[in-house]
Amino acid sequence: MDSDPPLLETYKTLFANSKTSSNNHDHRLVTVEERHLPLIDLSRLSHNEAEKERCQKEIARAARQWGFFQVVNHGISMELLEMLREEQVRVFKQPFHHKCREDKFLNFSAGSYRWGTPTSYFLRQLWWSEAFHIPVNDISSTPMEPFATKVAILAQKLAEILAEKLGHKLSFFQESCLPSTCYLRLNRYPPCPIPSDIYGLMPHTDSDFLTILHQDQVGGLQLVKDGQWIAVKPNPEALVINIGDLFQAWSNDCYKSVKHCAVTHPTKERFSAAYFLCPSYETVIESCSMPSVYRKFSFREYRQKVQEDVQLYGYKVGLS
Ligand code: OGA
Ligand code: NI
Repeated sequence: MDSDPPLLETYKTLFANSKTSSNNHDHRLVTVEERHLPLIDLSRLSHNEAEKERCQKEIARAARQWGFFQVVNHGISMELLEMLREEQVRVFKQPFHHKCREDKFLNFSAGSYRWGTPTSYFLRQLWWSEAFHIPVNDISSTPMEPFATKVAILAQKLAEILAEKLGHKLSFFQESCLPSTCYLRLNRYPPCPIPSDIYGLMPHTDSDFLTILHQDQVGGLQLVKDGQWIAVKPNPEALVINIGDLFQAWSNDCYKSVKHCAVTHPTKERFSAAYFLCPSYETVIESCSMPSVYRKFSFREYRQKVQEDVQLYGYKVGLS
């Protein structure tokens, strides 16, 4: 299809090499158990005080113990989620050469589009996916805007609950995380017709405060729980929430930014959309309690470090 990025042609030498090398010792791709994440009904937040308190505690516990959870009754209607998905499908259906034009594609800033991996020396480093990484500001007056508005409110609400459960009442997130600093990433994972050990997205942690993911029913999201990779069973009504590196640092390791990845499907394409709650580059991330595990750093410093590490080592080192 002329909308598909040329993954197979571009990486064919990697495929050829993989047949002759025996790099099969990565245990991750051995059968991975499918589990339900903690599922939290957010309608309880508008019940009586006692129920609200219990719900908030569950959110904080999931963030501590899993770094990941799912929410239902989150305030984003099925209709808005469908609108988002329809628009996402439409955008990815555009001819490949349009998507990767250097100038603006649709209304998105130049450079929003990515496909495959810029540097992959091994099959395992290859990302079998394409994505648009779009500042939320660029989404205004697109059919995705109503979703972006609602998801931003949800992200703020969850961040505030998590902060409050650490004993902090903060306007910090409202002041630092703005539509110009937050992102929506539209992911598409084309069917991957070759051996199953190719990632859609390599294992990584997110470099934000928290992420809200809407995925379709194909499945492919996996995460580490108690040292084991587990697969997340898709739930059509739920959104997946995960803690990012900044919240881990800010909470002084109380909340966990957990490694996750997306695996590919042999015959089905898969879509997901992730909203990243990010602060401005100037924002300083400082632990909310003492003694602090990490030295304080600005978001700009952190982003630069991540980029340098990727250039240098081929992967993100993350918090250290
Ligand atoms: C991401 C991500 C997972 C998925 O975009 O950072 O982890 O299932 N996506 O698409
Ligand atoms: Ni991620």
